[in-house]
Amino acid sequence: SAPNGAPIRPVDDPQARAEAARLLRAGALVAFPTETVYGLGADATDEEAVARIFAAKDRPRFNPLISHVPTAEAAFALGEPTPAAETLAAAHWPGPLTMVLRRRPGCPIAWLTSAGLETVALRVPESAAARALLAEAGRPIAAPSANRSGRVSPTTAAHVAEELGDRVALILDGGPCPVGLESTVVDLSGTRPRLLRPGAVTREQLEALLGPVELAAAGDAIAAPGMLASHYAPRAAVRLDATDRRPGEAFLDFGTTRADADFDLSPSGDLVAAAAHLFAALRRLDRPGVTAIAVAPIPAGGLGAAINDRLRRAAAPRG
Ligand code: TXA
Ligand code: MG
Repeated sequence: SAPNGAPIRPVDDPQARAEAARLLRAGALVAFPTETVYGLGADATDEEAVARIFAAKDRPRFNPLISHVPTAEAAFALGEPTPAAETLAAAHWPGPLTMVLRRRPGCPIAWLTSAGLETVALRVPESAAARALLAEAGRPIAAPSANRSGRVSPTTAAHVAEELGDRVALILDGGPCPVGLESTVVDLSGTRPRLLRPGAVTREQLEALLGPVELAAAGDAIAAPGMLASHYAPRAAVRLDATDRRPGEAFLDFGTTRADADFDLSPSGDLVAAAAHLFAALRRLDRPGVTAIAVAPIPAGGLGAAINDRLRRAAAPRG
């Protein structure tokens, strides 16, 4: 294992996978190999577990995460398949392709996982050991690359140990990743397929199956997912650093500053809990009759940076 760090165990060892599945179901972080890069995994349906992904990566903003599942059937139980999605699944799943689909009603994927969006990103990885782990976990596993924010994506267990050995419960080792580059992300939730992130499955391969595939415009999904026009923003205005409640406003508290708050992101002032509840709370308070959501001050440190980034975007003038 890594010095002062998580144990590293072979992904081909069924007992190691059983332990990893148990840890994931309990809300812990587990790094695991896929054919593209190592993923920093957490239960995609557990908002606090997903918040811990962002904390572990020191990520300054919340972007939507990919949920990994063992089969296309499991994927299409979460996101609405379109004919194009069925075609791509038949040709490229399992494999280094992620599809963005509309959420099905009742989809259990946490709002933090999808950064508040009505769509979910789904992938069935090629690696048989990874799929065995996902089947055993029995729930979708959110997993960005297992590196700290701003660092290169890890393609060996040793890289993961260097980056995050002190922040995960277990590292599964599957040797070097054969692809070494993140999956292709294609958005099938709109009228035309759009390539959001290039990867091992090429645009030419997609177009051979689907016909024309639009490219995401420069500077959107890849450079700044939080700026996407489709990114979730409440209908109501958002007022930051609020200490009072004005007529027509709902009050979103942090650390119990007001007794009459509509919701408290974390009564005890815990930023992981606040991140976990942020998108669900904005949705809950963004209801008819509410002209603005007043938000209590959120501290800047740790996950506070990502929470404040999201709130500033929600509060910015709409174009
Ligand atoms: O190869 C990979 O895909 C690796 C391994 C571990 O599987 N995972 C990975 O995950 O790169 P992540 O969560 O970092 O990738 C997120 C990408 C971003 O480009 C994000 O903007 C896009 O997927 N994405 C996720 N959900 C989306 C959504 N609902 N709408 C649009 N884009 C989405
Ligand atoms: Mg990454």
